[in-house]
Amino acid sequence: MYPALPADRRDPSAGSIGNFPAVFGFILDAGSATFTPALKRGRKNRLGGTVPQTLQYRDSVAWLTEHVYPKIRDSVPRFEWELHAPLIAEINHLKRERNAVILGHNYMLPEIFHGIADFTGDSLALSERARETDAEIIVFCGVHFMAETAKILNPSRTVLIPDLDAGCSLSESISPEDVRLLKQRYPGIPVVTYMNTPAAIKAESDVCCTSANARSVVESLGTDTVIFLPDEYLARNVAAETDVKVIAWSGRCIVHERFTVDEIHAYREQYPGIEVIAHPECSPEVCEEADFVGSTSGMIGHLDHARSNQVIMVTECSMSDNVQEAHPELQFVKPCSLCPHMKKISLEKTLDSLRELRYEIEVAPEIRQRALRALERMLEVGRDRVAA
Ligand code: 13P
Ligand code: SF4
Repeated sequence: MYPALPADRRDPSAGSIGNFPAVFGFILDAGSATFTPALKRGRKNRLGGTVPQTLQYRDSVAWLTEHVYPKIRDSVPRFEWELHAPLIAEINHLKRERNAVILGHNYMLPEIFHGIADFTGDSLALSERARETDAEIIVFCGVHFMAETAKILNPSRTVLIPDLDAGCSLSESISPEDVRLLKQRYPGIPVVTYMNTPAAIKAESDVCCTSANARSVVESLGTDTVIFLPDEYLARNVAAETDVKVIAWSGRCIVHERFTVDEIHAYREQYPGIEVIAHPECSPEVCEEADFVGSTSGMIGHLDHARSNQVIMVTECSMSDNVQEAHPELQFVKPCSLCPHMKKISLEKTLDSLRELRYEIEVAPEIRQRALRALERMLEVGRDRVAA
């Protein structure tokens, strides 16, 4: 039914991987249970994917997935849940059969974040997970640069991304040639590259960083100036925190550049005392207005210290949905800004990815070696102490 794994990649201990104990690992068969008319026609889910007719919501699926729905019920209506649950059960079964691990970024849809991801986190945490996993297959529920980073860090694993078009506006904002020209213009100045870039850009860099460690990485170089690529806003936000002079590029995150100071003021007026938590890909003016600025995991961690029971997370929409269950005491006000790249990843595509072993990430050895140096140097630095 599925392409077989090469014999040397099969792992008899696969049952221990995943959200569920191995005892749940039976195959969901097409069986004889009654189809609803909607499922017979191949019903569309809210993102336009078709739920396969063989995946039905029935007692076995309900039993396997019942622990998930309470975590997402605030954002996923019941009728929709019954379309997701069979996919979740099948993905979790296949994950064990394939000895695969699913890494899910904090911006994933709630049904992915709570239903199938073995590990969730920001791009730094997921890189660390990717580097240390001994699963044969890494399915990256995130965007392309994240999956590519996983492959660079752990090249003997099969790294899959459910949709190859899950890109990033920052990744597309700069070319290797641009970096080489900058290095010519500023000889001897080290290049710090945000992880949201392709491997070929990392390969041109001295060190990588994420939003969780940008300041520490910049200061770790011991120079008075750095070239910081490609996110202009992150570069300016780092420059505001350090004495190191920062030469920036003009890349922007299409999700975070949309937020404005006027919008934050309007929320503060409407909800007096509200806690504003922002991602450093927002403009320096927006970050200045925020009570806390940090990576996606830093933002989640900060919720434990929120001074108000009303919070606004100035970032991608799914963040608030994903943390609501852990923080029933908080009311999230949601200025929604969807990342169209992150939202290309769905349960349907993740199931196809595991079934067909697609889409496999490859990185040319020469590029990988150079990109790896920059990533390892970053991982040695770790996280910023304050704002991560
Ligand atoms: P984090 O590393 O903070 O999770 O950010 C990744 C990202 O793409 C934010 O837009
Ligand atoms: Fe890229 Fe912004 Fe989407 Fe993150 S949120 S993947 S930085 S476009």
